[in-house]
Amino acid sequence: MARRKSARRQQLETAAMYPLDWLEERSGLVGGLRYFLFRKVPGDTNWFHTLGSATLTAFLVQLVTGVILAMYYKPDPQNAHDSIDHITNDVTLGWLVRGMHKWGASVFIILMFMHMGRVFLFGAYKYPRELNWIIGVLLLATGLFEGLTGYLLPFDQTAYWATVVAININGTAPFVGPFLASLLRGGAEIGPDTLARFYSLHMLLIPGALIGLITLHLYLVIRLGVTSPPWSDEAAGEGPPPKPSGARAGLVRPRPRAAVRGRPTE
Ligand code: HEM
Repeated sequence: MARRKSARRQQLETAAMYPLDWLEERSGLVGGLRYFLFRKVPGDTNWFHTLGSATLTAFLVQLVTGVILAMYYKPDPQNAHDSIDHITNDVTLGWLVRGMHKWGASVFIILMFMHMGRVFLFGAYKYPRELNWIIGVLLLATGLFEGLTGYLLPFDQTAYWATVVAININGTAPFVGPFLASLLRGGAEIGPDTLARFYSLHMLLIPGALIGLITLHLYLVIRLGVTSPPWSDEAAGEGPPPKPSGARAGLVRPRPRAAVRGRPTE
């Protein structure tokens, strides 16, 4: 038999819930969060489905470590490399934060490719998720551009010459090439303006674009739901097909896919 709550306990619960109720009444945010956390996903999702969240985690690590680095980094050719040295050798745990940001960039890109591979192999880009695939492609291009702009920031020989090569490659594009190269350089030569431009792109414009695209991407993931693996019985989002009873297994006709999807068959 369910025990009745004491009046005092009820009072305490009401007081504890008051801020949440206040927020929910005015914004609906609590209900939204509850929907997000307790929404249904196919029963046979597996470790491959965690690659998107792993990519998101890598991105968040980049955001946090990047903000810390930006507190010490100086984006001008005279001081850029010295400020990186200072972060690595003098700032408390600076070597760790810098290392996490530097290696984390590769982890982010690798995870993004692995997540894209899983989406491709599971056929999760098909109707109705085409738009989310397109947003994913934009995320991939923007993520790679973030890596390119970050590579110049230490302003050492490797950074400088890698950027010269990257800008020259862009310069070979038909029609828009020269314009693109000069836009990236911020003038005729790579110099102070290039560094300032890359820094601004790297820490403001591109992360802003990534955050916007990721928000859209996740909105669509929640709205459309996650796909099952291709080998799943639940591939069409319904329960498993009925088990054959009594009849010889070889004589049981599989249910046509169209019927499984709920579409009328011929
Ligand atoms: C910043 C990069 C990205 C983040 C943070 C991200 C995050 C996520 C998350 C958390 C999910 C749901 C769980 C999962 O299926 O793993 C997801 C699903 C999806 N992602 Fe991404 N993603 C990124 C890049 C990409 C790229 C590059 C593509 C493809 C070009 C892509 C296409 C998709 C599609 C189509 C789905 C739906 C999959 C399904 O319903 O099974 N995403 N993403």
